[in-house]
Amino acid sequence: MSLLLRGRTTKSTWEMAKAEPVCPPETMDSEDMLFMLYTSGSTGKPKGIVHTQAGYLLYASLTHKYVFDYKQGDVFGCVADIGWITGHSYVVYGPLCNGATTVLFESTPTYPDPGRYWETVERLRINQFYGAPTAIRLLLKYGDEWVKKYDRSSLKLLGSVGEPINHEAWEWFYNVVGEGRCDLVDTWWQTETGGICISPRPSESDGEIIPAMAMRPFFGIRPTLLNENGKVIEGGDVSGALCIAQAWPGMARTIYGDHQRFVDAYFKTYPGYYFTGDGAYRSDEGHYQITGRMDDVINISGHRLGTAEIEDALDEHPDVPETAVIGFPHDIKGEAAFAFVVLKDGITLTEQAIKEDLKSIVATKIAKYAIPDHILMVKRLPKTRSGKIMRRVLRKIAGGNTEDLGDITTLEDPTIITEILEAYHKYKTEEAAK
Ligand code: WT7
Repeated sequence: MSLLLRGRTTKSTWEMAKAEPVCPPETMDSEDMLFMLYTSGSTGKPKGIVHTQAGYLLYASLTHKYVFDYKQGDVFGCVADIGWITGHSYVVYGPLCNGATTVLFESTPTYPDPGRYWETVERLRINQFYGAPTAIRLLLKYGDEWVKKYDRSSLKLLGSVGEPINHEAWEWFYNVVGEGRCDLVDTWWQTETGGICISPRPSESDGEIIPAMAMRPFFGIRPTLLNENGKVIEGGDVSGALCIAQAWPGMARTIYGDHQRFVDAYFKTYPGYYFTGDGAYRSDEGHYQITGRMDDVINISGHRLGTAEIEDALDEHPDVPETAVIGFPHDIKGEAAFAFVVLKDGITLTEQAIKEDLKSIVATKIAKYAIPDHILMVKRLPKTRSGKIMRRVLRKIAGGNTEDLGDITTLEDPTIITEILEAYHKYKTEEAAK
């Protein structure tokens, strides 16, 4: 082994000697393409999103500096894969533009054990830790010991990205990982936006943080809520389609090879606005909370509900780390909720008892009408390689359409689908027997 390694070192040193020590910079136009990135495919056929040189770099570096309160000398730890936008903007481009030390994390949060993130924090003395709610929910399931084993005193700030962070995960991340002394920022953005668009900025004088809320637009971002008729919704304590009213430096410029698709996807629904596809709530104080994808809103007997709201309630159960709630057509209610529920290892209650608990949590936290008609216990949820739940597949299953599930090539582990289908058929057989 050591011989082999030595051989490789010698060879690479020799190869290095042949290489030019300086790479002459190439002059680029500010609007030249910097990179193209296919979106996760969680909602349909992947799109090649194009980002450009100057605007993207400016936006990635400014957001890195101001959202994470990056200071010279800090060790910045974004544990996303560099193959996705989070890794592009906050492992590579943003931190490197600012001359930061940036961490390349190449593992999973549970390999070789669930202490991997915190061991990395201790060893590298990471100051800002940026990760996804899906990983936090998973780690929460393994208990606090894996976190407490490691020294996390270097941490100053924690960040979350990729999907709404439920309250239980937010509190655990803040109190257990951050020992209640690190700011925790819930950052909202998209592959298309290039960098963070809505997030608390705790370093500023008015930088209070409300749990599980993205809160404040970044410099130059003008969030606007629109109703179904395309009218701007003014005031506070209101919800609507989240749009952005003015161009910003980091926004995508086109879909590679299909500019018309770019226009249709983002600028047609609400003329004059960039439509994010997400819904949001604005409080009386003017803070924004992302409620989830617009197509994840369901209408049960005339009550409009974000599926994330029901998920948030279900996730409160101590034995439930993760859920996905999907709407399906219902003869009487119009639409009804179908919940896919993951249970912790080693639960002591019966599944039936947990189901009853879940129903009463939803009834008290939201309302009786929000109780899912079906609760299916599954081992895992189908996720794309970027960690997003592939909802359109669950939507098909919830609607009883189990034959053609569409394009599942971006799934991290397609065998999960087989598992879920087995559980689904078993559940249906049991229901039919009742
Ligand atoms: C979609 C974009 C942002 C980089 C990683 C994902 C959802 C993202 C949040 C958040 C609620 C969020 C939105 C958005 N999302 N961050 N903090 N709270 N939802 O990039 O694959 O382009 O997905 O992720 O629905 O539209 P993406």
